[in-house]
Amino acid sequence: MSAAFILAPSILSADFSRLGEQLETLEQAGADWIHVDVMDGHFVPNLSFGPFIMKVIKKHTHLPIDVHLMVSNPDALIPAFVDGGANWITVHAETCPHLYRTLQNIRVSGCHAGVALNPATPIESLSEVTHLLDLVLVLGNNPGFSGQGWFPEMGGKIKRVAEFLKQANSSAVIQVDGGMTADTLPEAYQAGARAFVSGSAIFGHEDGIMGGIRTLREQALFLV
Ligand code: DX5
Ligand code: ZN
Repeated sequence: MSAAFILAPSILSADFSRLGEQLETLEQAGADWIHVDVMDGHFVPNLSFGPFIMKVIKKHTHLPIDVHLMVSNPDALIPAFVDGGANWITVHAETCPHLYRTLQNIRVSGCHAGVALNPATPIESLSEVTHLLDLVLVLGNNPGFSGQGWFPEMGGKIKRVAEFLKQANSSAVIQVDGGMTADTLPEAYQAGARAFVSGSAIFGHEDGIMGGIRTLREQALFLV
């Protein structure tokens, strides 16, 4: 799969009192995917939303929906997100004792399959499933909250993931999630990431969502 530069705003940073309107603005502003951060208060120290959110999202966007499951038992939730219209489903390597089966199930359901790696999770946890991967998500910090910034070592990790995927002959997209701003995105791109999740830099931009997307998208002009 070839991907030039995919912007995936995370609705975790949205204003939930006007989520529908903000989803429509994201599409008009030129977002590529809608990133949905699902947290269970167990695998990560925060709670967000469950599959019900898909109905709201579907009602207000035509964009592909990219679900990031930060939950201890993703297998139990995958069917509901598939039914809700997810296009991409990413599970954490740390949460899947049967990662092979989980990825097979995601793909059989018609979605693209991704695996997320926490900062401390070794890339080698993917070595037996590279042929089942459509995406590798590299966390830019410890997952659970938006607006935490970027761990600079993650640039090196993205590079190693890119090298690892090349060796395995995999064309999986490298996605980076956490701490992406106009300052940090170029390093992640140069290291090999092609899909960029962003929460606070888009929703918290001084010129609103339009300004946030424009500022990140401008980076592509120099990079792609
Ligand atoms: C949970 C999430 C995020 C996030 C991005 O940690 O997966 O990484 O919503 O937020 P920002 O772009 O604000 O770091
Ligand atoms: Zn995420």
